Amino acid sequence: MQNARRDIHSYSNPEQIRVRHLDLDCDVLFDRKILKGTAALSVQRRVDSGAPPLILDTRNLHIEKVEVSEENGAYAETKFTLGASDPILGAPLSITIPPAATKVRIQYSTSPEASALQWLDPPQTAGKKQPFLFTQSQAIHARSWIPLQDTPGVRLTYSAHVRTPKDLLAVMSAGNDPDAPRTGEYKFRQHWPIPSYLIALAVGDLQFRPMGNRTGVYAEPSVVERAAKEFDDTEKMLRAAQELYGPYRWGRSDLLVLPPSFPYGGMENPSLTFATPTILAGDKSLVSLVAHELAHSWSGNLVTNATWSDFWLNEGFTVYVERRILEKVYGRPREEMEAVLGRQDLEREMAKLPERDQILHIDLKGRDPDDGVTLVPYEKGALLLRSLEQTFGREKFDAFLREYFNHFQFQSITTGIFVDYLKKHLLNGNTQIPLDEWLYKPGLPASAPQPVSDVLAKVAEQAKAWTGSKIETNNWSTQEWLHFLKALPPQLSPEKMRELDRAFSFTRTGNAEILEEWLLMAIRNRYEPAYPRLEEFLVSVGRRKYIKPLYEELVKSPEGKARATAIYKKARPGYHPIAVTTVDGILAPKS
Ligand code: BES
Ligand code: ZN
Repeated sequence: MQNARRDIHSYSNPEQIRVRHLDLDCDVLFDRKILKGTAALSVQRRVDSGAPPLILDTRNLHIEKVEVSEENGAYAETKFTLGASDPILGAPLSITIPPAATKVRIQYSTSPEASALQWLDPPQTAGKKQPFLFTQSQAIHARSWIPLQDTPGVRLTYSAHVRTPKDLLAVMSAGNDPDAPRTGEYKFRQHWPIPSYLIALAVGDLQFRPMGNRTGVYAEPSVVERAAKEFDDTEKMLRAAQELYGPYRWGRSDLLVLPPSFPYGGMENPSLTFATPTILAGDKSLVSLVAHELAHSWSGNLVTNATWSDFWLNEGFTVYVERRILEKVYGRPREEMEAVLGRQDLEREMAKLPERDQILHIDLKGRDPDDGVTLVPYEKGALLLRSLEQTFGREKFDAFLREYFNHFQFQSITTGIFVDYLKKHLLNGNTQIPLDEWLYKPGLPASAPQPVSDVLAKVAEQAKAWTGSKIETNNWSTQEWLHFLKALPPQLSPEKMRELDRAFSFTRTGNAEILEEWLLMAIRNRYEPAYPRLEEFLVSVGRRKYIKPLYEELVKSPEGKARATAIYKKARPGYHPIAVTTVDGILAPKS
């Protein structure tokens, strides 16, 4: 069952004609910063749909030729028109296809400005010798490198043939062969129907290190060893998830560590999670991100949000599953810490959000879905599931979730479909859960769970007591340090900041989460000794979650805004197009 209601972020008409398979054949041209080749789409007409054109999503694509063929027939050129380009949605590509046609082949090339693609010159990589390319298709960027029905409500299988410079390796979201020789010619096949936002490609001087039978890491040579150590628990996490929610359906489960300009922490590309190098803390303290992306193998990749208004179905479920995995692998206290930090961050962010963005089923009319990404779908979504767990008990709720993943596997569903299923298979008339309030109202219901962590409660005591005198911080975990920093008063004198830094060396920490928190405090309190590190961080790291709050904090004062503008001038050429859009919006807001 797939939902026929329209996705407002796609021009496509899947209710009339549906793309089932993509066969991509392309050259990766680093010198021109473009992909050039063909996308052959297998299409299926809906009965009684007449002979409407096939409408595809595109953004900045240069379309050279379109051909159509019948099953086993020869390709013949056909007419197409490219409509006007919308700044958010791109341009519709309308293709005339005869009623019996089952294949449409588009010859095209991308533009160097493609929003999904980041082309790194050798100096922007760890090895400094080879260029690097990676894609980020979620939410609606797949259309900037492949013409297709770019909506999560449509699923397709794909095969690909990618040609690269000889000494580089290409990997895709399709179960990579760990023994693939470096020939400059690579073939891939994704056998399961996936939404377009999960199509992914990376090309670079990549090496592979196995961690287990079905797990391993791809990264540049100087990073791969460190990464394999950091992600050592991946197989354990996979097992934990399988015990809870049933078999892992995607064959291999590898990780790809990208250069620091990767705009996200992680991206759940099937069989090959893309990850930021900022989680390589050296002590596995930030691997909740790996648990998160693995959790998407059930929530998101197996059962997918049908539109971006249903994004919470992906992320809220995933944060819940992530924490269940963490609990199984690292114990309940760790889970509790993450849950407490999660609710606290959610409340802080929500206090600043307009009401319409505090709603789980978010209204994105006229907006880029990337702008709807806040902690609300993540943490409010996870709290809803936690409250279901608390109300019905683990045993019942776990069974429900397992059945939910099985029932909707390889389907894309809306919030409404979930609600119907929930009412029928768990609620059974029970009205304890204010479901409408959770899904369609701003803020949190009064009955929302309040996670508690004894460990963090002790840390908060220390933060209150902290006067510059000694406090007991022996063996504190990253989560405890984060809670400590967040529990300090927002305004601190220069002396206090200096004392903190002298006692705990925050400016020099190698842990990106702790550094982020500290740099925010430094900006807020004009703590100048941290400014060089702030600049270095903003210039070298392009992860949106980190850079967005830092620029936002900076622009609050005229002096900070000048600093932000100067730093951004240096940093912008190294940022991914998605991060550029975000920071442009902060430093030079439109209208
Ligand atoms: N799928 C998301 C990343 C994403 C969301 C990309 C929306 C584009 C649009 C991924 O699973 C994610 O949530 N990543 C988080 C890390 C996670 C541990 C919360 C991130 O990148 O910070
Ligand atoms: Zn996620």
